[in-house]
Amino acid sequence: MISSSINENDIEVELEELNQLSQAILTKYGYDFTNYAQSSFKRRIIMVLKKNSIKSVGLLIQKIVQDPKFFEQFVTDITVNTTELFRDPSFFRVVREELLPILSNRPEFNIWHAACSTGEEVISMAILLKEEGLWEKAKIYATDINTAVLKKAAEARYPLRNWELFKQNYSNTNPKGKLEDYCEIKDNEIQFDKDLIKNVRFKQHDLAVDQHFFKFDFILCRNVMIYFNQKLQNRVFELLHNSLFLGGYLALGAKESLIWCKIADKFAAFNENEKIYKKIKL
Ligand SMILES: C[S@@+](CC[C@H](N)C(=O)[O-])C[C@H]1O[C@@H](n2cnc3c(N)ncnc32)[C@H](O)[C@@H]1O
Repeated sequence: MISSSINENDIEVELEELNQLSQAILTKYGYDFTNYAQSSFKRRIIMVLKKNSIKSVGLLIQKIVQDPKFFEQFVTDITVNTTELFRDPSFFRVVREELLPILSNRPEFNIWHAACSTGEEVISMAILLKEEGLWEKAKIYATDINTAVLKKAAEARYPLRNWELFKQNYSNTNPKGKLEDYCEIKDNEIQFDKDLIKNVRFKQHDLAVDQHFFKFDFILCRNVMIYFNQKLQNRVFELLHNSLFLGGYLALGAKESLIWCKIADKFAAFNENEKIYKKIKL
């Protein structure tokens, strides 16, 4: 990174300081933020400084190194955890109508939700699999760098304020379905049927440093690459490619693509609109 001065509102952060921060975190905790996209990473760091009334990146480094609990919260603060049930309904329609019929021909299949956040994507897929009679055939892993969101995902419980959005997204995916069949509302929360995630293995996994751990027929890695620079995206594409069986499928987020990456020729577009790709070469 080139060192330069950035003035954002009242806080000034040197890019060199961001490098020092990333290095300190890597050394102490093994999390590698060095190749996160610079501008969004910087914005989140400034937000953390403000939120905790910490006056400099140097003091933030001290606090992080000395206080593992603070670091846990720091990870939550700098990673963007926004997600939705049936986020991008048109994507889930294509999965239901075009991809699951292909996977259903396999005796069993493995799905990986990489960077699953609080698990709404996992619940969405479980509902699709139930409705298509494929739930018993699927082995599912759901991972994220952030253990706090994984705990929430395993509870399958969400604030009631999301209800209208969840219902709307679901009915855009399945106009005949009733979301109420999969959850109940109590104490201002939506509690999904835990049976939906009974077969899901939740596991901490850092796309920036960890290796592949299983082979999959379908990987969803949506809306996380946008936070990585090209070097890290290339690393992750390599990892995802190694994690797929030949003929396996990879889904990215609406604003993401692999057509520019180093191993683009090892994939073919299955549905370019919905950013679903098929592994065609080892
Ligand atoms: C915006 S959410 C996307 C959630 C879901 N995939 C979706 O599309 O709605 C991004 C998630 O990526 C996770 N994340 C960020 N860096 C990561 C990394 N290096 N390895 C694994 N997960 C990471 C964050 O913790 C966050 O939960």
